[in-house]
Amino acid sequence: MQVLVTGGAGYIGSVIVEELVRAGHTPVVYDALAKGHLKALAPEIPFVRGEVADADRLRTALLEYQIEAVIHMAGLIEVGLSVTNPDRFFETNVGGTISVLRAMIDVGVRKLVFSSTAALYGDPEQLPIAEDAPTQPTNPYGQSKLMAEQMMRWVAPAHGLTCTALRYFNAAGATERNGEMHDPETHLIPLVLKAAAEKRAIPIFGTDYPTADGTTVRDYVHVVDLAQAHLRALSREEPGLRIYNVGNGNGYSVRQVIEAAREVTGAELPIEEQPRRAGDQVATVASSERIRRELGWEPQHADLRDILGSAWRWMQSHPKGYEEA
Ligand SMILES: NC(=O)c1ccc[n+]([C@@H]2O[C@H](COP(=O)([O-])OP(=O)(O)OC[C@H]3O[C@@H](n4cnc5c(N)ncnc54)[C@H](O)[C@@H]3O)[C@@H](O)[C@H]2O)c1
Repeated sequence: MQVLVTGGAGYIGSVIVEELVRAGHTPVVYDALAKGHLKALAPEIPFVRGEVADADRLRTALLEYQIEAVIHMAGLIEVGLSVTNPDRFFETNVGGTISVLRAMIDVGVRKLVFSSTAALYGDPEQLPIAEDAPTQPTNPYGQSKLMAEQMMRWVAPAHGLTCTALRYFNAAGATERNGEMHDPETHLIPLVLKAAAEKRAIPIFGTDYPTADGTTVRDYVHVVDLAQAHLRALSREEPGLRIYNVGNGNGYSVRQVIEAAREVTGAELPIEEQPRRAGDQVATVASSERIRRELGWEPQHADLRDILGSAWRWMQSHPKGYEEA
């Protein structure tokens, strides 16, 4: 299948591109390179530099490459920035999604897989979280993804589109070629590993949360398993919107991740306790029953030490990230 991947030069997108190629699909990357890295892509991958707001450019790319499906990942991701600049998040994440839908409808592309997030659940009453749990985002980032899903719920059936929203829990880990390199980096695993590599202390943002050890709890899913969920979603044909959680169902606290990182890296990793960050959720752990049952998805790298180990190997083979790749 010819697949346009918006945000395909980013962390998760670049791994999806690798997995699409491995499965015999033909990915085309559409990215503004606001954050991604061209070096994350093999040179033979067709690349279009463009903004998601630019529906004309999107239409041209869809037609030129005879695209049959879109994986829409381009967007802003930093929770803290969404609290201080909510307008930018609604503009890019909601406006960008309507622009992608408009371009698809105009040229007759009918399949969309959308990068959604567990952030839209906010602080849930029950763990693990199923797809029908209440959505009550604690930050504009989660709200923007929820709004994009809500648009799709109406647009998809009206235009006969097959839309699949994948609500990722926390993507982590690496392939040999691609790993996590955000700027600024706000995600725990790359921050912990960087601190290990530089032999410094790791800050913990908030140690007074209502969890067993006072730190926030997350469900880490290997980026390759996450990419595989997209391949499964591409096989869906039923018009309308279907939503799936993608996580392992295991919750790890910040302190547990740091402990596991000490084992994987051999570093001491002293802790520096800091105040909470704005917008952070307390605990998110997925029930991924639905995607297992309906799409046959099974994570292959669920062990936290495997996930950390792959990220650590990538970081060691890319000490300057993509700068010298
Ligand atoms: N990383 C996670 O754990 C996680 C969890 C849940 C959901 N997600 C979602 O997955 C997607 C990818 O996340 P990631 O971690 O790979 O982020 P990333 O920042 O590495 O990748 C995003 C890509 O989108 C591009 N982009 C941003 N704004 C754009 C615009 N206006 N026009 C065109 N391209 C633009 C960036 O250049 C970048 O390459 C995002 O939509 C994010 O919300 C990520």
